[in-house]
Amino acid sequence: MLFSPNSLGECLQEWEDLEKDYQQIQETHRLYKQKLEEVSKLQDACSTSISRQKKKLKELSESLEECRQKGGSENLTTIEGIQECMKGRPNVFFEMEAFLPKKNGLYLSLVLGNVNVILLNKLSKFAYKDEYEKFKLCLTVLLLIFSFTCRFVLSYRAVDALFNFLLVWYYCTLTIRESVLISNGSKIKGWWVFQHYVATFLSGVMLTWPEGELYQMFRSQYLEYSLYINFVQFLQYYYQSGCLYRLRALGERHTMDLTVEGFQSWMWRGLTFLLPFLFGGHFFQLYNGVTLFRMMQLPECKEWQVLMCSATFLVLFMGNFFTTLGVVYQKYMNQDKAKDV
Ligand code: COA
Repeated sequence: MLFSPNSLGECLQEWEDLEKDYQQIQETHRLYKQKLEEVSKLQDACSTSISRQKKKLKELSESLEECRQKGGSENLTTIEGIQECMKGRPNVFFEMEAFLPKKNGLYLSLVLGNVNVILLNKLSKFAYKDEYEKFKLCLTVLLLIFSFTCRFVLSYRAVDALFNFLLVWYYCTLTIRESVLISNGSKIKGWWVFQHYVATFLSGVMLTWPEGELYQMFRSQYLEYSLYINFVQFLQYYYQSGCLYRLRALGERHTMDLTVEGFQSWMWRGLTFLLPFLFGGHFFQLYNGVTLFRMMQLPECKEWQVLMCSATFLVLFMGNFFTTLGVVYQKYMNQDKAKDV
């Protein structure tokens, strides 16, 4: 409980203590502002040096390539040595830049304006990513319940519209959060972000699809697809957050209880379990695209939404399927390289 003075003597004593505390606060804050200025100067210096280094390295690598073509074999090993050292630099600069303020990209500038979204330490970056995964989990559960209700309990166009509106908002939010994550050094592939723009578009088109025979024809399949996708998203959450926590532990602890090999074997077990469900989702997207394409041939088909949704589902299928294959292939190759090292 806080001490509350009763007599004037106690009040004066308390005031004196408060004054001392106040001086201390002022001093600490002055120091804090001074450090902030120092940090900001260091940030500028780092950013300028990195851009200068990048430019010079580019010029040097062009010159070295010319020398390599012209020169004899005695200089070849020196040139190759320098080129080998230079290969690792872009990754190092990428890591460094993840902790330095930079101008937002076009999308973030349009949505948020020119506000700095760079988080300055690893802990806040981890917390932001963790929150992003938890946000996805909460919305997944909500959407799972919503799509189940629309499919099996309530059949009103207005409720469907609400469901699609929630999807539009959710996917828009994901694109913003993912752009912030990328600015903070996340290696999310461009397609996964673009996929959310496409999904926003798809939900927007579904929102405008008027009630009618064709809408009813596709409705159940669309809601079943939503149920399935959200179920897969649920599984994906456990895999992604598992990766996040294990990678963080790997970065923090250098003991033998969690090794790179241990992480890789956990990751492959997770992926092997997840992949059949993911491919199931991709083929569901293909099936939706084909169903809508067939509906387009019907004489009563007048709505433009049928063609739009069909094309969008096919784009989603191709992008998701080939990117997932690419990711697995890349992981497989990297694993082989790690073994060789
Ligand atoms: N959405 C958002 N972020 C993703 C992502 C996705 N689908 N896939 C990967 N990432 C992120 C990772 O969290 C990681 O972020 P970090 O650099 O901040 O740590 C980064 O991208 C690199 O991840 P990567 O190592 O390439 O992949 P992974 O092992 O984390 O996940 C898959 C691989 C295949 C499981 C994942 O990409 C995936 O689930 N893809 C399929 C999505 C899909 O098709 N959905 C729709 C149909 S069901």
